[in-house]
Amino acid sequence: MLTVGEPAIEPAVHATGDTPQRCTAMIESRAAEPPAATGLPLPDRSVVPAVWSRVANIIVERGEGSWLVTTDGERYLDYTSGIGVTNTGHAHPRVAAAVAAQAAKLLHGQQNIVFHEPGLRLYDRLRTLLPGGPWQGFLSNSGAEAVEAAVKLARVATGRPVIIVFGGSFHGRTAQAMALTTAKNVYRADFEPLPGSVYATAYPYCYRAARGPHAPDEHCSCPWEEQLDLVLHTMTYPERVAAILVEPVVGEGGYIVPPPGFLPRLREITREHGMLLAVDEVQTGVGRTGELFAVRHWDVEPDILVFAKGIASGLPLSGLIAREELIARWRPGSHGGTFGGNVVACAAANATLDVVRDEGLVENARERGAQFLAGLRALAPKYPSIGDVRGLGLMVALEFVKPGVGDGRVPNTAVSKAVIEGALRRHLLLLRAGPYDQVIRMIPPLVTTAEEIDLALRILDESLAEAGA
Ligand SMILES: Cc1ncc(COP(=O)(O)O)c(C=O)c1O
Repeated sequence: MLTVGEPAIEPAVHATGDTPQRCTAMIESRAAEPPAATGLPLPDRSVVPAVWSRVANIIVERGEGSWLVTTDGERYLDYTSGIGVTNTGHAHPRVAAAVAAQAAKLLHGQQNIVFHEPGLRLYDRLRTLLPGGPWQGFLSNSGAEAVEAAVKLARVATGRPVIIVFGGSFHGRTAQAMALTTAKNVYRADFEPLPGSVYATAYPYCYRAARGPHAPDEHCSCPWEEQLDLVLHTMTYPERVAAILVEPVVGEGGYIVPPPGFLPRLREITREHGMLLAVDEVQTGVGRTGELFAVRHWDVEPDILVFAKGIASGLPLSGLIAREELIARWRPGSHGGTFGGNVVACAAANATLDVVRDEGLVENARERGAQFLAGLRALAPKYPSIGDVRGLGLMVALEFVKPGVGDGRVPNTAVSKAVIEGALRRHLLLLRAGPYDQVIRMIPPLVTTAEEIDLALRILDESLAEAGA
């Protein structure tokens, strides 16, 4: 087994054709360079611009499974997973070994220029991850970039301009992705004008339904279908819509689980009008919700599925899976990018998918998620400012309200902040979500254990009590 932080293999010997004398000269000139940065005092944290808002003022050195370890040797239970990325745990030995082995052989084999083995293997696997099809994959770097690819594909494949999104959704921070995002003003308001022909309709947010909070079950009364119909009668025509883009479980917007009929009915509506159904599984994908992809909970076959985050355990890789005949409509050269499908990232993704399969991480997400949700539901009656407890797999959340104020659902940002700070002092890392940051979301690595969930529940209980929740 690898020790975290140690190279897995010897550094590669490069066949450069240099004479022995020239190689010696290169080694000598390297020795004359200034000493490596390690050992020198660390620069002040202000070298990093404040636009990178931050949850914890700690400096991490390494990670193991669900844990991050700081330069001072302090251990933190990381239930952010670096925003849903480290599904296989931090520095999983099999992923780290695959990365190190590939890095020693080839760091960059640009997709427009050559093929490489990790990429071919990954593209082949992407054809098999969803039932139905036939499917084909496309690889890029970030979630936002893959969402943009989905929009470009939907427009080119249908010849239609309009994209419909859901209020409260998050799709990324590039120009097109910002235009698709309505989770919070900070993600878009400073950067207008944004690309047009994007219209938002209502997601079934059962806890905040105008007619009253209810469970996201088959009796859900959220009028999302009427709202969509209204958009199709007021903002555009159905035959102008290229795609409806949806998060199967809303992430950044507050970890909102839809009722069971929502995605199947959306699939019917999109088919009726010749629109594509594009699902953004950037946060829900790679086992997170207790299925490899969340659409499988409802047996829905999308036309385009976008993935990123968990696919390569931390290396930047994203992409989409789409019906083969749609991808075929992209003219060669009309989409791409220098780094998309990077060879090391592809090696990490292949190892990640192996680990997810071999270690039963999808099943663990289901079991540990059920344990976490049951534990939180048992805590909730003690704390009146917990308005809702919800989740799917290891996407779990608490929504905070001001008890006795208004209709009892007024968002409570102060308490969510106090709880998250209390948890941090107890070395549990958590994130918030929702338009008012009134939601605390728990995103454990899918390798997390029953004991770690129990520990997190104890820390949350203490932090809730301390915050006067
Ligand atoms: C659902 C969803 N889509 C897209 C993105 C954007 O991904 P990235 O930050 O990799 O661009 C995110 C990131 O949080 C996300 O949660």
